[in-house]
Amino acid sequence: MKHRDAALQAFYDLTETAILRRADTCKNAGPAAKPVFDALRKNVGGKGSSAPELLPVCDALESALLVASAGPAPVPELAATLSNLSSRLQWKRRNGSTPDGTNFHDGHANALIAGPGGLEEREDVWVGISLLAPHVRYPDHRHPPEEVYVSLAGGAWWNTNMDWTTPGPGGLIYNEPNVLHAMRTEAQPLLAIWCLWVGS
Ligand SMILES: [Fe+2]
Repeated sequence: MKHRDAALQAFYDLTETAILRRADTCKNAGPAAKPVFDALRKNVGGKGSSAPELLPVCDALESALLVASAGPAPVPELAATLSNLSSRLQWKRRNGSTPDGTNFHDGHANALIAGPGGLEEREDVWVGISLLAPHVRYPDHRHPPEEVYVSLAGGAWWNTNMDWTTPGPGGLIYNEPNVLHAMRTEAQPLLAIWCLWVGS
């Protein structure tokens, strides 16, 4: 039987706890996250083989983790667990990102924890991290799976059903399937976890 290391299991457990703890503030988040964490409980994916990689925005990770460490439970524990995993992460820009004269290209990165190319290689769930430097606007985008974000530090979220919202550390954001959505930062970096069920 495949084994999941303790740091990864702690990260999943704390992420699920964070979602359940605030589920009353975001009625779709709990139901959307349930298949993700049920699948992670049911079986363990393969050990990821992607080499760790840093990008310029990773300079903002330490200050984002510091903000998260002062958040409500379980955000500080989640930040500590993420810090433990950080040396293993392969940070990547969003597909198709090229220098465009704005600060977006070097001001953002995503890292997959579970999913294709993630620390845990699997196809049925995607659990990842987004990091935005201060004063960055992530472009509007959409995707078929619904999505739950757990904010760990900074940033605002928007979708076509919702004005710009600042959830704060521990706050949740839900994006329904195919809804156009985006994030942006002001003075603080954004650090957030996202969870998508892509199985069938
Ligand atoms: Fe998204």
